Amino acid sequence: MPTNSSSPYLPFGENKNAAWYGKDIISVKQFSRADLEYVFGVAQQMRGMVERVGTFDLLKGKILANLFYEPSTRTSSSFTAAMERLGGSVIPINEVKYSSVTKGESLADTIRTLECYTDVIVLRHPETGSAAIAAKAAKKPIINAGDGVGEHPTQALLDTLTILEELGRLDDLNVTLLGDLKYGRTVHSLARLLSQFSNVKLNYVSPDILKMPQDVVEEVGAKGVSQTEYSALEEILPTTDVLYVTRVQKERFEDLSDYEAVKGAYVINPEIMKAAKEKMIVMHPLPRVNEISADFDDDPRAAYFRQMEYGLYARMALLAMVLGKA
Ligand code: CP
Repeated sequence: MPTNSSSPYLPFGENKNAAWYGKDIISVKQFSRADLEYVFGVAQQMRGMVERVGTFDLLKGKILANLFYEPSTRTSSSFTAAMERLGGSVIPINEVKYSSVTKGESLADTIRTLECYTDVIVLRHPETGSAAIAAKAAKKPIINAGDGVGEHPTQALLDTLTILEELGRLDDLNVTLLGDLKYGRTVHSLARLLSQFSNVKLNYVSPDILKMPQDVVEEVGAKGVSQTEYSALEEILPTTDVLYVTRVQKERFEDLSDYEAVKGAYVINPEIMKAAKEKMIVMHPLPRVNEISADFDDDPRAAYFRQMEYGLYARMALLAMVLGKA
């Protein structure tokens, strides 16, 4: 591991020349195909280390602020686990109602405060663009853990890692995104990332009011990716390699009657999955409500619980990268 010999005050030897040292992770647009392959390689090494030794001291002495303005189970706890597996520690602020945010403190000031005490900040916030605002205020790295209906870049990185690990490739894939494509930030980020790969076909299956936003369609289309909209899953399921299911997000609807009209539009169950390939995977960023029935969970194609574990390795890789240890 390279060390910085110019300062005696860097006992753990960050490599300040590493490509991702000190960088924010705000959008998947920051990642080239080569960057993605690098992240996957580091994540695979992290998996090996966790399997061999569990916890190790790569980030010993480093502190992460986990700042969540919206609920989270997976992202919050996997970043905590990632930091602790790497020997670092975490300041968890999962309930901003117990912080000075309730006294009217701005996001920028909260970020400036936390960076006095920490080395990296993970932020989830309900407003699109909030991670970029935080990054502007901060000198330390900000990692976007979901900004409103905007992006969820670390989810897309773990999603692509999952596809690579489960199917052995990211080229030549027929990927079907199902459900709430309008508000689902995970599918916005995933569609953008998959557009880096060759011969990927994206199929969008959603209710009319929850279609993939036009800006994402245009951006992905500009990369030459084939995109087709379907209203019935049956039309595309038999040729699908990856079925990515999303929850219809009640909390994003202004008019709850719209939510009620579409909430049960698609439900994956063993009967429907009879039409799918034997070698394919079903993914979901989770939490699910009822869009995948529990009696499908034991099917080997159900990859959504394994997907969560890949998230640990992807987030370990990202923390090590921005802190100059990979
Ligand atoms: N996938 C995901 O972001 O889950 P959480 O909302 O539980 O973090």
